[in-house]
Amino acid sequence: MPDLESVVRDIAEEMRERSDRGDVATYIPELASVSPAAFGIAVAGADGEMVAAGDCDMPFSIQSISKAFTLTLALGKVGDRVWRRVGREPSGSPFNSIVQLEAEHGIPRNPFINAGAIAVTDIILSGHQPREALGEILRFMQFLAEDNSIFIDEAVAASEQRTGFRNRALANYMKSFDVLENPVDYTLGVYFHHCAIAMSCRQLAMAGRFLAHNGRNPATGLSVVSAERARRINAVMLTCGHYDGSGEFAYRVGLPGKSGVGGGILAIAPGKASIAVWSPGLDASGNSHLGRIALEALTQRMGWSVF
Ligand code: DON
Repeated sequence: MPDLESVVRDIAEEMRERSDRGDVATYIPELASVSPAAFGIAVAGADGEMVAAGDCDMPFSIQSISKAFTLTLALGKVGDRVWRRVGREPSGSPFNSIVQLEAEHGIPRNPFINAGAIAVTDIILSGHQPREALGEILRFMQFLAEDNSIFIDEAVAASEQRTGFRNRALANYMKSFDVLENPVDYTLGVYFHHCAIAMSCRQLAMAGRFLAHNGRNPATGLSVVSAERARRINAVMLTCGHYDGSGEFAYRVGLPGKSGVGGGILAIAPGKASIAVWSPGLDASGNSHLGRIALEALTQRMGWSVF
């Protein structure tokens, strides 16, 4: 059995030396200034061990990785009624695409493309003020990671509020089909802010543990969701978590994963580990270039692919 510590250390060193690093996202101006030289990795194992290397303690903008956690909260709130407002099929389209909404009655294809995540945020918001809904999401992340220092980067949220015209279009378009219940500005305000949650790889790997262990925190044994729900969230992450790069990620890495344009990826090796990687340079689909390569190396060396 390969030694996880040396595998993780080797991967961090190999990634630090590579010159192909992808391109940092610029459409959210505040993300454009992050250095592409960063690389972090953290693996939370089944026995409570944590193996981490590189910039594993540096907070980064989790962006769309938050969508895996908002889906969990929305399922907790309304159960399978979530699927009345959002599908669970891969879109094969970019994360911010609008094309498929017109033909499909404003119902987004899945909860991880932007349109779908905005619909999921609207479910969490219903019955609350935006500040309360956002507080619920942030406290959920802090609870899962067992770390109250996790925060919302207000500069990133404001940057996206100012420039998020595409998301505004998606939300208004869905609102015209009555897919959103709340005022568009309220829903988008919560959405932009949960995307702006800042976490380190170590915190993110901690937060993902319940997905790797049948819905339970392996350290405390406490149940976060049922085993069936954890399985289903992982299924949607595997098929939709990387947008039009989901097939490629499954082919190369072989794990459920959720990416964000901040350059983070949360990947789940069921029964084995919750893994977070971060490298800000992105590939053409908006997923971390070196993050994916590092996860491919990790799953190959550890034999962790689900296939
Ligand atoms: O809505 C957006 O465009 C961003 N807040 C999140 C997009 C994202 O992270 C896509 N992921 N790779």
